[in-house]
Amino acid sequence: MSLYERWLRPLAFSLDPETAHALAVDALAAAGSFKPLRALIERAYGFEHSALKTTVAGLDFPNPVGLAAGFDKDCRAVPALCAFGFGFIELGTLTPRAQGGNPRPRLFRFPSREALVNRMGFNNEGAETAARRLSRLRKSHIPIGVNIGVNADVQPEEAPAAYAQAFSRVRQWGDYFVVNVSCPNQQGFRRLQEKLRLERILTALKALNREAKPVFVKLSPDLELEELSSLVGLLMDQASGVVCTNTSLARDMGPGAPPLPEDAVATRGGLSGAPLRALSTKTIREVYRLSGGRLPIIGSGGIFSAEDAYEKIRAGASLVQVYTGLVYRGPALVPEIKRGLARLLAGHNLSSVREAVGCSHMASAQP
Ligand SMILES: Cc1cc2nc3c(=O)[nH]c(=O)nc-3n(C[C@H](O)[C@H](O)[C@H](O)COP(=O)(O)O)c2cc1C
Repeated sequence: MSLYERWLRPLAFSLDPETAHALAVDALAAAGSFKPLRALIERAYGFEHSALKTTVAGLDFPNPVGLAAGFDKDCRAVPALCAFGFGFIELGTLTPRAQGGNPRPRLFRFPSREALVNRMGFNNEGAETAARRLSRLRKSHIPIGVNIGVNADVQPEEAPAAYAQAFSRVRQWGDYFVVNVSCPNQQGFRRLQEKLRLERILTALKALNREAKPVFVKLSPDLELEELSSLVGLLMDQASGVVCTNTSLARDMGPGAPPLPEDAVATRGGLSGAPLRALSTKTIREVYRLSGGRLPIIGSGGIFSAEDAYEKIRAGASLVQVYTGLVYRGPALVPEIKRGLARLLAGHNLSSVREAVGCSHMASAQP
C-alpha cells in the first residue's frame, strides 16, 4: 500500500470530493514554485526507459502515460504536475469566458467500484486567465496539451467561432490541442460531435492554426458504431488524432459487467474510473479498426494499472491518460504503470511501445 493509500486517501476521502480536489491543486500549485521540492518529486516518481519513448503527431513523448483533462482545469499546477513523471499533461477544459459550472455538489465518489461521477459543467476561469498563467512558465520537458470547449450559453451555430476564440487565446502555449465535444454535463453539447458541426469547428481552428500544431478531438464512449464510422473519415482528414474517451452517461456497462451501486445509477453526470474501462477500450478498438490504424489515439478511461494501459495500447492507443485512477491510487500509479509497461513490453520481446499499438487487431498476435 502506498503512502497515499495509507495516509492521504483516508484524509482526502473524509472531505467532500470537490474540496479535496481543490486542496490538492492548491498544494500542487504551491509545491511547484519550490524548486527543491520539485526535484525531490522528480527523483521519487522518475522512471525512464528507452522502450517507453514514443513520437505521436510529430511530438516526442518520454513515456506514453499522461494526465487527463479536468484535473488542472485552470493551468495552476503545471510545474509540479510535470515533476510527477507523466509523459505529457493535458490542461483545461478552457472556455473563452470564465464560468462557474453547475451547482454543487457535482462530484461524487463510489469507492466500492473505484468510480467517480461528475457534472462539473466546465467550471473554469477562462482561456485568457489560463493563457496569462501559461505565459509565465518555462518551456516544459514534456508536451503540454490544452483542451478547449465553449461556454454554456453558446448556440451550436456559434460554436466554431467560440472554439476559435478559445484556441486563439492559448494556441501559443500548448504543444497540442484537444477539441472537447464530448462533455456530457453541458446541455446539448455532445451534439457538436455531429459530423457537419464538427467539420465547421475544425475548419475554423485550421484557419488560425498557422504553426500547424496537432489538434485532437475528444470523443464520447456513448457514440453508436454508425456515428463513429461517419466521424472517422472526417477526423482522418481534419484532425491529428482523437482522445478516446470522455466520461459516460451509461450506467449499464454492458454484458458481463457487474451492476453499479444504486446511488451511482441515480447520480446524474459522467461516469469515470473502473466501470468505464471496457467501454472506452471498445471505442479505441473501433476507431483503430475504422481508421486502419492511421488515426493516432490517446486512450483514457479506467486505467488503474500497467495491464489496463497495455490493453488500451494493444487495442490501438498510442498514448494513454489517467485521472480517476490517481484519485484512488495516488501519484505512485504513474511510475507503477511505466515500470509495468516496460516489463510487459520486454516480456513480449518488443523494444518499443509503438510496436504494441493495435497489436490485438492482428489475428495471430500474442502480445
Ligand atoms: C472530476 C472530473 C472532471 C473532468 N473534467 C474534464 C474536462 O474538463 N475536460 C475533459 O475533456 N475531460 C474531463 N474529464 C474526463 C477525463 O479527462 C477522462 O477522460 C475521464 O475521466 C476518463 O478517464 P478516467 O477513468 O481515468 O478518469 C473529467 C473527469 C473527471 C473525473
